[in-house]
Amino acid sequence: MRIGLVGVGRIGAFHARTLASLDAVDELVVTDADVDAARSLGAELGVAVADDTTALLAAGIDGLVIAAATPAHAALLSEGVAAGIPTFCEKPVAATLTETLALTTLVERSGVPVQIGFQRRFDAGYRRVQAAVRAGELGFVHTIRANTHDQAPPAATYIATSGGIFRDCSVHDFDVVRFVTGHEVATAYATGANQGADFFTAAGDVDTGGALLTLDDGTIVLVSATRYNGAGHDVRLEVLGEKGSLGVGLDHSLALDSAESGVNFPAGPRHWSFMDRFQPAYRAELAAFVDVARGAAPSPCTVRDALEAFRVAEACELSRATGRPIALADITGA
Ligand SMILES: NC(=O)c1ccc[n+]([C@@H]2O[C@H](COP(=O)([O-])OP(=O)(O)OC[C@H]3O[C@@H](n4cnc5c(N)ncnc54)[C@H](O)[C@@H]3O)[C@@H](O)[C@H]2O)c1
Repeated sequence: MRIGLVGVGRIGAFHARTLASLDAVDELVVTDADVDAARSLGAELGVAVADDTTALLAAGIDGLVIAAATPAHAALLSEGVAAGIPTFCEKPVAATLTETLALTTLVERSGVPVQIGFQRRFDAGYRRVQAAVRAGELGFVHTIRANTHDQAPPAATYIATSGGIFRDCSVHDFDVVRFVTGHEVATAYATGANQGADFFTAAGDVDTGGALLTLDDGTIVLVSATRYNGAGHDVRLEVLGEKGSLGVGLDHSLALDSAESGVNFPAGPRHWSFMDRFQPAYRAELAAFVDVARGAAPSPCTVRDALEAFRVAEACELSRATGRPIALADITGA
C-alpha cells in the first residue's frame, strides 16, 4: 500500500513514523505547507516527499492521512474524497459545525471510506470497558467520569485555531462515552476558567473546563479537561454501575498521588503526553485505516461519529458562553 500523509507537525510526524513501520505500508509520501519540514522528515525516515497536496493526491496513493492543523481539515478531506481516495482525518473533521455537517453529507454521498482519528477506540482499556458495559457486567450504569488532563499546554499558535478546549480536547471523551455506552448525549452544562497563560483568554478559550452531561438513558457523565496537569498526562474513564465499576487509566502510570499513608500506588513511571499514553492505540488505529484503505474493513470511526461528538462540544461551548444547560436537540447547525 502507498499512503500519503499531509501535515508533519506534532501528531503528523508521529503518525508518519508509525505508518513507515507498518508491514502493510510499502511506501509513504509526506507533504506539509511548510515544505522544509516535510523534506526534513522525509530525509529522516527515508520516505518520499511531495511538494504540495495536489502533487500528493496525484502520486498514486491508496490512502490519504490528514494530520494538518484543524483549519485545513475541511478542504483537505473534500479533496481526498473528490479524488476517490480512502481518507483518514485527524479530529476534528472541521473547525465549525456547519462545515462538519456539510462534510458528513459529502462523505456519505460519495461512498468513499473515511476514518476519523479518535484513537481511544483502539485502546485496550476502553475496549475492555465497552465490552463489559455492553455485556451488562456492571448492571445499569449510573455515572461516568471522563478526564483529559494534559501535562502542559500546546503552543499559542495551536490554541488560536484549535476550536477551544471542548472541541479540541474533551471531544475525545465525548466520542469514547458514545463508543463505550452506545448512548447519545441529551443535555450538556459546561463551564471553564483561566488561571494559566494569557493566550487562552486572547483566543476566547479556557485552559480548564468541566462539563456535566446526561445521556439519553439518564446516565450522568462528568467530564473534566485541563491544559495544566503538572503531575503528568492523565486520561481516565471511570464507569460506575449497579453491579460493579471499571476504570481506564488506573494503572501504575496514573498521574495522581494518594494522600493515604503507606500507599505506594502508583509505582510509575508516568505518562507525559498523549503520544506515549496512546502509542499502541495510535498504531492499531493506523493499521485499521490501512485495512479500510484496501477495502478489507468498514471505517471504525465515521464522519457521522465525529459529527455527534462535535455537536456535544458545540453544546458545551454554547453552555459555557450562556451559562445555561443546552439540549443537544437544539444543536442543529441551522
Ligand atoms: N488524535 C489525537 O490524539 C490528536 C493529538 C494531537 C493533535 N491532533 C489533531 O491533529 C491536528 C494537528 O495537530 P498538531 O498538534 O500536529 O499541530 P501542529 O501545529 O504541530 O502541526 C500542524 C501541521 O500542519 C501543517 N499545515 C497547516 N495547514 C496546512 C495545509 N493547508 N496543508 C498542509 N499542511 C498544513 C503545519 O505546517 C504544521 O506542520 C489537529 O487537527 C489536532 O486536533 C490529534
